[in-house]
Amino acid sequence: MCGIVGYSGGQSAIAPLLEGLRRLEYRGYDSAGIALGTASKLFVEKRAGKLSNLEAELKGSLPSAHSGIGHTRWATHGGPTDKNAHPHLDNEGKLAVIHNGIIENYTQLRAELEHRGHSFSSDTDTESVAHLLSELRKKHGGDLAAAMREAVTLLRGSFTLLAIHADAPQTIVGVRRNSPLVVGIGKGENFMASDVAAFIDYTKRAIELGQDEVVTITPEKVSITDLNGIAVVPKEYEITWDASAAEKGGFNHFMLKEIFEQPKAVADTLLGRLSPSNQIVLDELRLSTEEIKALKKIVLLACGTAYHAGMLAKYAIEKWAKISVEVELASEFRYRDPLIDSSTLVIAISQSGETMDTLMALRHAKAAGARILAVCNTNSSTIPRESDAVLYTHAGPEIAVASTKAFLTQVIAVYVIGLYLAQVRGIMGNDQVKELFNEMSALPSKIEQVLETVEPLRKLTRGFAQSTSVLFLGRHVGFPVALEGALKLKELAYMHAEGFAGGELKHGPIALIEPGTPVIAILPTGHDHGLDEKMLSNIQEVKARGARVIVIADEGVEVTGAEHIIRIPTTPALFQPILATVPLQVFAYEMAVTRGNDVDQPRNLAKSVTVE
Ligand code: G6P
Repeated sequence: MCGIVGYSGGQSAIAPLLEGLRRLEYRGYDSAGIALGTASKLFVEKRAGKLSNLEAELKGSLPSAHSGIGHTRWATHGGPTDKNAHPHLDNEGKLAVIHNGIIENYTQLRAELEHRGHSFSSDTDTESVAHLLSELRKKHGGDLAAAMREAVTLLRGSFTLLAIHADAPQTIVGVRRNSPLVVGIGKGENFMASDVAAFIDYTKRAIELGQDEVVTITPEKVSITDLNGIAVVPKEYEITWDASAAEKGGFNHFMLKEIFEQPKAVADTLLGRLSPSNQIVLDELRLSTEEIKALKKIVLLACGTAYHAGMLAKYAIEKWAKISVEVELASEFRYRDPLIDSSTLVIAISQSGETMDTLMALRHAKAAGARILAVCNTNSSTIPRESDAVLYTHAGPEIAVASTKAFLTQVIAVYVIGLYLAQVRGIMGNDQVKELFNEMSALPSKIEQVLETVEPLRKLTRGFAQSTSVLFLGRHVGFPVALEGALKLKELAYMHAEGFAGGELKHGPIALIEPGTPVIAILPTGHDHGLDEKMLSNIQEVKARGARVIVIADEGVEVTGAEHIIRIPTTPALFQPILATVPLQVFAYEMAVTRGNDVDQPRNLAKSVTVE
């Protein structure tokens, strides 16, 4: 959370800074601010609310500057006001700091700094760093990088920090600990940002930074050191997607564009995963056959939507690979003394690769000896870097805060892992694997078919816009789908929404049904354990109490009791979530549009949650 950008080069800094912030707004949008590298005193402007408020303020004449830093905020310490917006300044107005993360010992730092005569003008944890750096810079004879190196030893918590000083305005210094920061290398200009999206218009050359590395950029140079000032050899890489992937491409919202990108995202994630001899190709796992056979347990760790992908993985992996699977909310995991050791494979699922709860859980599992596999959508992010192995989903950049295409690709990725484990453990033969893989390969065109129904679905949704509460029912793999449908609706439409396992209905949730309550039920595929019939009974039960029932059902299956039926193509039961989730995404999307909500940046949320 919080987006950070820094620029030093030959052109006017305002365009790369504002462009970068626009691309990073998904990380937080409570307030925004910039500091331009103008000599003698920095030019600083900051405003509560979205970036557009700041942009409106910046219309008119701006001082000429070829460097600067910019910030878009998701508030932690101090409300989202003008004064708490970043950058924060020292008392001379010469040094500015922006920050992503939390400085845990800021109260103590602030007290010490105030005692030494610094006066504070915000409620934030960040402002302490500005005053601290100001002192240390003087101590180090004006060397901002040296000041940063010492400051970091005095800070506890997680942070990415960028600082600029008016006496050397073309020099920007950054550092990261448990928060993301990447460097972009241009021609006669260099960048720093929370995410490569910020500078993709200008360069595709990037450098990843390690923990506690301090980086200094000028127009001509990038230098990186550790906290002792020892030079670090940069790890450069090429960004493989281009700027158009981060644009709306004719859609009104990123979310709708991303919903429509799902067939391609799923196909790309499956690409090259089955060899001509019908072996699942998963070299990334980097586990020997013996190690895979010796695995006693798999633990999936994730948050939010990714957690629902983890729940689905349990159904598939246990069925196919016959290995016990636990799914845990990453934020809860390390507080219950989980039983894990070297015979445990931990799979951390994260679109951003930066979610702090998931990262902390992963570290806990690693310390206990487990092997860690990341399923991630963001190249070179922290979670894959700290894992033993990584399987990248190929969803491309997901900009809308509510996850859509990343979710489907996460499910596909964990299913591929399931098939691989089943094959290597000798539980599934090649023919069976091939058959299931072919079914998965047919999913992109089946998602296309679901997408053909988007307009009638949107119309249907508008008919429910006055509802105050929507319930989602599922059984078996339909249960995580119900949870995901409810989460999407909460995130986007700010409506009371809950997902339930159909069987649980009678144990309490049925009391929520009032005449007119919309209930969306996912009818299980096939007759396994008579689950379809049980769901049809659940539908009758809620209908009898006045619910208005929408059913998502496979083509051709007889449905009774529904006011509306949303048809999806038939696919094997375990794959149904890939299709059944799509109408629920559209339902939440349209509900948000109808209610006038900000679809891509829902209130109070951020896409990349880098605090615990
Ligand atoms: C935030 C986002 C969710 C996302 C969750 C996990 O809460 O708003 O959409 O599912 O984080 O994010 P991750 O990047 O780890 O998948």
